[in-house]
Amino acid sequence: MADVSFEGFPPIPPPELIQRVVLDFSADDAERTQRHFHADAETGLLVVQRALAGLGREIGDFDRLLDFGCGPGRVLRWFVPYAEQVELHGTDIDADAIEWCKENLGYASFTTAPHEPPTEYPDGYFDLVINHSVFTHLDEHYQDLWLAELQRITRPGGVLLLTVCSARQVHVTLEGLAGAGVDAEAYRARLERDGILFIENDAFVGSSHPPFYHSTLHAPWYVLEHWSRFFDVRGYLPEGGHTLDMVVLIRREDGAEVLPPIGRRPAAVPAAPAAPASDPELDRALARLNELYRGWPPARTALGRLKRRVLRGEIDRSERMHEALVALAQLLAERPERADGLAELKRDVHLLHVAVETQGARISLLARELRERDA
Ligand SMILES: C[S@@+](CC[C@H](N)C(=O)[O-])C[C@H]1O[C@@H](n2cnc3c(N)ncnc32)[C@H](O)[C@@H]1O
Repeated sequence: MADVSFEGFPPIPPPELIQRVVLDFSADDAERTQRHFHADAETGLLVVQRALAGLGREIGDFDRLLDFGCGPGRVLRWFVPYAEQVELHGTDIDADAIEWCKENLGYASFTTAPHEPPTEYPDGYFDLVINHSVFTHLDEHYQDLWLAELQRITRPGGVLLLTVCSARQVHVTLEGLAGAGVDAEAYRARLERDGILFIENDAFVGSSHPPFYHSTLHAPWYVLEHWSRFFDVRGYLPEGGHTLDMVVLIRREDGAEVLPPIGRRPAAVPAAPAAPASDPELDRALARLNELYRGWPPARTALGRLKRRVLRGEIDRSERMHEALVALAQLLAERPERADGLAELKRDVHLLHVAVETQGARISLLARELRERDA
C-alpha cells in the first residue's frame, strides 16, 4: 500500500512506527491511522502556540527548540514553517523512529536518547522544550532523572511545555483497570496519597518499548509541588497539551530561590484543615474552593468543537476559581493570628494562584480572539 501524503508536509511515517506512539492504531486500516496521525498533530502545534501566548511569547521568539520524546516526528512535522527562524531538534530513545526522522525531516536535527541521561546536548542548549506524552510513561525515578536532564540542557529563562495525564485520562485509565478486574480503587487511593501512580501491568507489557515504559498518572498538586523542585511552575493548563494537561515551566537562574516543597498531598485542598467552627466565612471560602478544585479540570469536549464551547466553559470556571482564590487569600491575610497553622494552605493557594494566573492570561487572549470572531 502506498503511504498517504499531505501537500506541503513532510512524508508520513510508516504504520509500524505510528503503532508505537498511538493507542487507537488500526492494522486493518493503516491509511486511516496515518491520516489521523497527521491531522491530530495540528493540535500539538496549536497548544504550543496557545501556551506560549499565555506567556506573551511565540514560537518564532526562540532560538532553539527541542521536542523531547519526539517519536517519529508527529508534532515536528507541523513545525516546517518555523524551520528558518528556529533551530529545530528532536530526541527519542526509539532508534528506529529517530532514523526515520533523520531521513525524512531534513529541516530538523535528531539524536537517539540513551535510556538514562545524559543526552549529548550541552548545558543550556535549548530555550524552548516541548513534549507530548513522555512523562505519562515514566516512573518517578526516571521522571526525576529526565526533569534534571531537561533542567541541565535548558538555558536559564528558557520555557518548557511538558505534558501529564488529564483528569479525564486518569478516569479512563482507572475505569479500564476496573473493567479488567483490577482493584482500581486501590490504585485511585495510591494516586490520591502519593500524587503519582505508575501502572506496570498495562498494555505495554511485552511491547516494543523498553521494560521501564508503562503508564503514569499524576495529580495536579503533585506536579505543582514536585516539579517546582526543578523549575518554576508558571502554569497548569487542564487539557491544554493536546489531549493531556500541560505544565508550563521556566528554567530558573542557577542559584535562584526555590520555594520549599509541600512534601505531601495538600490537606487543605480539597480536604480543608481544621478551621475553627466560629469562622463560617473562612469555611465557606474553603468549601467553595474545594468544590471548584474537584471540578477542575473541565470535562473534555471534542477538540474539533474546542473553540467556542470548551473555551467559554474554561473562561467561566477559571474566573470563578480565581475569585475563590482571591477571596480565600484575603481572608487569610485578615487573620494573621492563624498564619502559622495555615502556612501550608497559603502555599497551596499560592501554587494554584500561579497556575490560574497563567491560565488566566492565556484565557484572556482566547477570549479576545472569540470576541473578534464574533464581531
Ligand atoms: C506516547 S509516545 C509520544 C511520541 C511523540 N511525542 C508523539 O506525540 O507522537 C512516547 C515517546 O516517548 C519516548 N520516550 C520514552 N522515554 C523517553 C526518554 N527517556 N527520552 C526520550 N524519549 C522517550 C518513546 O520512545 C515514545 O516515542
